[in-house]
Amino acid sequence: MSNVIDTWTFEQHESAARGYCRRFKSVFSSAIGSLMTDVNGEEYLDFLAACGSLNYGHNDADMSKALIEHISSNGLSASLDLFTHTKAKFLQSFYQLILKPRQLDYRIQFTGPTGTNAVEAAMKLARKITGRNNIISFTNGFHGVSLGALSATGNKYHRMGGNMLSGITHMPFDGYMGEHVNTAEYLEKMLNDPSSGIEAPAAILLETVQGEGGLNAASKKWLQRIAEIAKQQGSLLIVDDIQAGCGRTGTFFSFEEMGIKPDIVTLSKSISGYGLPMAIVLIKPHYDQWEPAEHNGTFRGNTHAFVTAQVALEKYWSDDSFSQSIKDKANFITQRLQQISQYLPDSTLKGRGMMQGISVSSGELADDICNLCFEKGLICETSGPHDEVIKIFAPLNISMELLERGLNILEEATTEVVKKTTKNGLSLCSEKYSTFITKPVENGIDRSFPDTFYNA
Ligand SMILES: Cc1ncc(COP(=O)(O)O)c(C=O)c1O
Repeated sequence: MSNVIDTWTFEQHESAARGYCRRFKSVFSSAIGSLMTDVNGEEYLDFLAACGSLNYGHNDADMSKALIEHISSNGLSASLDLFTHTKAKFLQSFYQLILKPRQLDYRIQFTGPTGTNAVEAAMKLARKITGRNNIISFTNGFHGVSLGALSATGNKYHRMGGNMLSGITHMPFDGYMGEHVNTAEYLEKMLNDPSSGIEAPAAILLETVQGEGGLNAASKKWLQRIAEIAKQQGSLLIVDDIQAGCGRTGTFFSFEEMGIKPDIVTLSKSISGYGLPMAIVLIKPHYDQWEPAEHNGTFRGNTHAFVTAQVALEKYWSDDSFSQSIKDKANFITQRLQQISQYLPDSTLKGRGMMQGISVSSGELADDICNLCFEKGLICETSGPHDEVIKIFAPLNISMELLERGLNILEEATTEVVKKTTKNGLSLCSEKYSTFITKPVENGIDRSFPDTFYNA
């Protein structure tokens, strides 16, 4: 696939802070559903979904229609946090379709329209309510890059820019110390020990599936234990569902089937349904202890986002069928990733729902595979501490045909990259991909790959 592009304008004028465009070097111009098109007319299958902010794909026809009607009838765009009929409709739909059927009782706070601002608000509120400063967050957690949320984020690369704020204790996430160490017990011991050096926390902040941190999915048991520990300690449990929420794991909230009810939940990314900036914090009513406008911000009334958000809720969450379709696609993704992982001797399947991927144990290898995918017309990204996890993040309403097409491209790219590093059936990968290894060699021939690999 040819890739004629003009990136000069960006290189000349845009800050070095730009990121995703460095891997996906095309100039995009339009998109529909799960397909994006660049200025040269090249089509790409989107397995990134704007990092989870396009769970319902690009330009959903019903959302576009409602938005166009709203704009052409001079509906409000910005409104600060005035009462507007669009906000009322969103609040009613969110209550009727999301909270009530799940027996969840939350007040809804509109924060500044980015995930990181919702996290700031959640942490600030927990500190205010408890009068405590410390917040427990977890290894490989990602909560945003404003200074408070960044301090709770593990990632060294993002943290390199400045002095972190105090008042955060990073603890090992589920599975971090290997399967034999229960990190919830470890946390409990530390918190119960008056000499551990850890202050009683205002909150425990976590993602149930760590999106940026490598698709690490916490177990139900671990999450329930953490919820109990939070209660014991008089701390609030904050679930950051900014990436894993809005259906990504198969249910609207990622914690629904985990048997926990967090005190505070943050949502952003796909809450507007259309990629428009919007973020909310859900707060158990007795914890809604804000003074008026205490955590304010100019862009809390993005009416366009309320319009599309309400359509998204009505269209996708009025019954269980969407949730079921996500679960079906998730099973299909698991099967295909299992197949693909046969070509990758040192690989592990990660995540759950439609936030799954393969850890290939080498950032360089994941990088080469994703770059080749892009050449073949598939946009997919890496995550994890070494960017070693290839992340499958298709829109949740992608057709089975396109989902399969994308996974075929991933398989093709994987075998091509792996083949380049094998000769006469022997893996030669170890030099280039430091952690990618050879499997046992029999009679000088490595037969660790499926037969199709050698015959193709
Ligand atoms: C779990 C989680 N929390 C917070 C954020 C920050 O959101 P934003 O980039 O909108 O500030 C992200 C972004 O990827 C995220 O994945």
